[in-house]
Amino acid sequence: MKDSMNRRQFILAAGALAGSAVLAGCGGSSTSSSSTSTSTDSSSNAASSSSDDSYTLVKNGTLTVVAELGFAPFEYMNDKTGDPEGFDVDVINAVADKMGLQCEYLPNQKFDTLVPLIKQGGKADVSIAAITITDEREESVDFSEPYLDSNQAIVAIKGSTETEETLNDASKQVVCQGGTTGNDWITENLPNATCVPVDDVTAALTGVQTGLYNAMVVDLPVAKYMLTNSFSDLDIIEEIATGEQYGIAISKDNPNLTKAVNKALEDMKSDGTMDSIETKWFGSTI
Ligand code: ARG
Repeated sequence: MKDSMNRRQFILAAGALAGSAVLAGCGGSSTSSSSTSTSTDSSSNAASSSSDDSYTLVKNGTLTVVAELGFAPFEYMNDKTGDPEGFDVDVINAVADKMGLQCEYLPNQKFDTLVPLIKQGGKADVSIAAITITDEREESVDFSEPYLDSNQAIVAIKGSTETEETLNDASKQVVCQGGTTGNDWITENLPNATCVPVDDVTAALTGVQTGLYNAMVVDLPVAKYMLTNSFSDLDIIEEIATGEQYGIAISKDNPNLTKAVNKALEDMKSDGTMDSIETKWFGSTI
């Protein structure tokens, strides 16, 4: 069954994070459940004949993925199927496919818990969640080679006269997803504004819509997608050229997994898989 191309196996491992304090808000337990499987039996995976190349997996034969699943078009829950979808979901499925593994998503986690969860180990093998590679995060985890370039955007209500300058004022509420690079950008560049970190991007944008917040700072591709699909009364008032790059976060204790993921990404770039995923989600390669 590993050979079937594009096969998606999103078995939500409901309960896999039992005992963790971050279960609130976990997405629907799903269609196919593998709740009986234990996710803690680390087993050595013979990635090739040379034992030097071996990496460990939380669950044998499976790439266990953790993400914050409210970041369209990169990762979001399909309400009908109860499965994660998006650019990153396609990327990590193709990576798993190249590695001869199945792909399994854990229930939704808050964004700022993802890097700590990978660092801590034992629950998930990788996190792919439009995570910007930063020096600070690289102290905790390893990243794959970058798989996509990105920037930030400032979003406000259509017709708003706000600018970066007017927002830098104590009377202004600027919302972001907590723990993101957008959060860092506000702290550094709008030191006088009131920065409001929240967990959920849709709630943040709704708050901008209703006037609760003056603006939001969020990744540009997400702003574009959300404004086109759900928030037509909002506008991108400024694009910020932060020059970010997304990478897949992997434990520092598992360097051969990072190598294997990099090899898969390289193959996907050279055989056109990456281009077709980009075209599917962005209409062109970016
Ligand atoms: N790229 C930004 C960062 O790394 C935002 C990522 C948010 N991702 C998500 N799935 N909510 O901080």
